[in-house]
Amino acid sequence: MTSRETATKHTRPRVLSGMRPTGAMHLGHYHGALKNWVRLQEDYDSFFFVADWHALTTHYEERSVMERYVYDMVTDWLAAGLDPDKCTIFVQSRLPEHAELFTLLAMGTPLGWLERVPTYKDQIDKLKDRDLATYGFLGYPLLQAADILIYKAAYVPVGEDQSSHVELTREVARRFNHLYGRPGDFETKVAAAVAKLPKDDARYLEKQRKAYGESGSTEALAKGEGMVAKAAANIAGWTGDDSDLLLGHLKGSGKTILVEPQALHTEVKKLPGLDGEKMSKSYGNAIAMREEPAVVKQKIQTMRTDPARARRGDPGNPEKCPVWQLHLVYSNAETKNWVVKGCTTAGIGCLECKQPVIDAILAEQQPWRERAEKYLANPKQVHWIVEMGTERARTIAKQTMKDVREAMGLSY
Ligand code: TRP
Ligand code: SF4
Repeated sequence: MTSRETATKHTRPRVLSGMRPTGAMHLGHYHGALKNWVRLQEDYDSFFFVADWHALTTHYEERSVMERYVYDMVTDWLAAGLDPDKCTIFVQSRLPEHAELFTLLAMGTPLGWLERVPTYKDQIDKLKDRDLATYGFLGYPLLQAADILIYKAAYVPVGEDQSSHVELTREVARRFNHLYGRPGDFETKVAAAVAKLPKDDARYLEKQRKAYGESGSTEALAKGEGMVAKAAANIAGWTGDDSDLLLGHLKGSGKTILVEPQALHTEVKKLPGLDGEKMSKSYGNAIAMREEPAVVKQKIQTMRTDPARARRGDPGNPEKCPVWQLHLVYSNAETKNWVVKGCTTAGIGCLECKQPVIDAILAEQQPWRERAEKYLANPKQVHWIVEMGTERARTIAKQTMKDVREAMGLSY
């Protein structure tokens, strides 16, 4: 085990996020997610995975492109700066444990919870050309819940559109712990842990438990948790299990087998596409992360601008121009002032105005190109990175499944 693993294992909270394999990444993916992932790997035990099964929930018939999309995407993750020494990169379909947890969670998840997820109806309306009246599509937020819960992730960095999936994950975990977190000998074990406490402390804990149970007082809960922490720090022979039991007893939830995650919404600057709409490969308005410099130049130079500026001498309004949206992401205050002044007074031409954006994008892409070079020259290395990450993920997924099977009475 490297020193990093030792350090991360014990001290860093875990984050987990996934992305559907859509092939080569574009600037929208970078600014919307990847840039944040690259930062997160410095401070968290970070797990990032290719959600290939998720891609099948909507594109189940597209078998020929999947493999290429998976490795093109991971190559761009590495190009963006994800470092396999700092984070764990893996592929969902290589870990059947995700499917096992999904199946087990499915048994007790009410249909209404899935039908209520806002993205369900939205997507069915939006993707009219596809038949999404499938079991897989309805169940996909539950598969996502399994992805998250199997790693006991504390945080899930996702866009606002995925909040409801994290909320569902929390409900599923809570229900699971409630149903299966009370083994037959739970009460006996709780009593044994309570007996380790000094009498006054035991009485105090009981009082807080009652108060929390009756009124949901978060203050009482905090006091009770404080007491458990104090016991863990001071009582000889106290174990982590004792703490888990008493915390479960305190909350009335039983033992925590699956951990409720929190969504991590980091503020990201929205990067629109060439036409001002959301950047998307399917809209044909995207710039790829590793787009050829000449193509970047040509794409920006031919971007639509404020129609009021039909001629060089006509003043315009940046608010009506998609190029301005790119300045908001890429330019400093000085350049932005220059744009506003030059545009509204016809002091600069549109081509002139676009040049700093071109320069900024080319500069941003430079390190990606450099990092990607060695992976493109040696694609086996990307496979190897995924292989290593998958095995690291498997160790954790296997352990969680062992706990889950045991809790559900399936460990025979
Ligand atoms: N549903 C996510 C998306 O479509 C991808 C995803 C799958 C995911 N499983 C996840 C994200 C777990 C975060 C955590 O973008
Ligand atoms: Fe857009 Fe710049 Fe032209 Fe104004 S000068 S219309 S902001 S490209």
